[in-house]
Amino acid sequence: MRTIPAIDLNRQTQAIRAELDDAIARVLTKGSFILGDEVAAFEDEFAKYCSVAHAVGVASGTDALQIALLACGIGAGDEVIAPSHTAVATIAAIEMTGAKPVLVDIEVTRFGLDPAAVTAAITDQTRCIIPVHLYGCPADLNPILKIARAKKIFVLEDCSQAHGASYRGRKVGGWGDIAAFSFYPTKNLGALGDGGAVVTNDLQLAEKVRLLRQYGWKERYVSHVKGMNSRLDELQAAILRVKLRHLDKWNVRRCEVAALYLELLSGTDLVLPSLPEDSQHVFHQFVIRHPRRDELQAHLRAHGIHTLIHYPVPVHLQPAYANLNPMDGTLSKSERAAHEVLSLPMFPELTEEEARRVSQGIVEFF
Ligand SMILES: Cc1ncc(COP(=O)(O)O)c(C=O)c1O
Repeated sequence: MRTIPAIDLNRQTQAIRAELDDAIARVLTKGSFILGDEVAAFEDEFAKYCSVAHAVGVASGTDALQIALLACGIGAGDEVIAPSHTAVATIAAIEMTGAKPVLVDIEVTRFGLDPAAVTAAITDQTRCIIPVHLYGCPADLNPILKIARAKKIFVLEDCSQAHGASYRGRKVGGWGDIAAFSFYPTKNLGALGDGGAVVTNDLQLAEKVRLLRQYGWKERYVSHVKGMNSRLDELQAAILRVKLRHLDKWNVRRCEVAALYLELLSGTDLVLPSLPEDSQHVFHQFVIRHPRRDELQAHLRAHGIHTLIHYPVPVHLQPAYANLNPMDGTLSKSERAAHEVLSLPMFPELTEEEARRVSQGIVEFF
């Protein structure tokens, strides 16, 4: 029996191979590789896609978060509130600025920040809140924006898993002051290497991001601020332009796979993903929950079905971040999620037959 992978990038690459080959050939013919026409065109197209005024390409999602924070003037002495149940990159980016991450718990319907936990974590040093739209599900932004506006705190959306998702009829990325995207190959919009973008409606923040990504240069060799090197390259931008044209179709396909899983797994005692009425989920991951997660994962593996765990260890329990553990039980939902979550195979090219086989394997387990 053929193995069902958790994700298969090759199916997508081969399906659009001719378009990718053309885009790569175009860059090779032009012979310009860093911050040229392709990056400018992609930035324009991605900003329009997200319904925001500005998009700035950078080298990765982690850099996008770090640069967004730096553009907001955040650094040593400041506190940034973020979830512990997230990719470690969210927290690594905060630490890179010199600011202190303050980890708070999630609410379990959307896996987003718990507004009550955010309120409890605010101090005079809090400068920013980072809601993460985990698994492609928009976090409940309204209560978080309300808290932030009242306290004049920045909101930086981590959209790395939610390209094209929307909240209350508007795309994620345009709700906060600034937002970060990753184009890591497995993302809903993925490059063929590393890449990221910062998006914002604020011209001043966008200009600051542009300076920071390249040594603080406005013009070559003159640094106006202390910057770094975090550029999206022309090849990746050309590839992302091709893939952006397919993104909506791919997201629809992810939602169809999700709908089939939801239907076929409805009789089990799994906790299934919720579909908040005010949001359009884009199912970067289809994450189920069960206390016997490890046994279920082993059972599926034995039947040739590969699954993943996002994430097995919350950030505050990782050795490098032990200093961020509040040790007071306030992150209990994050800790429980780490033991229970399981990401089923999910990618646009997953066939109906494969989704049925995955579901069958789960039903048999129970
Ligand atoms: C929620 C989240 N934030 C940030 C990142 C970091 O992105 P990158 O791997 O492009 O640095 C990722 C991707 O791994 C992510 O899933």
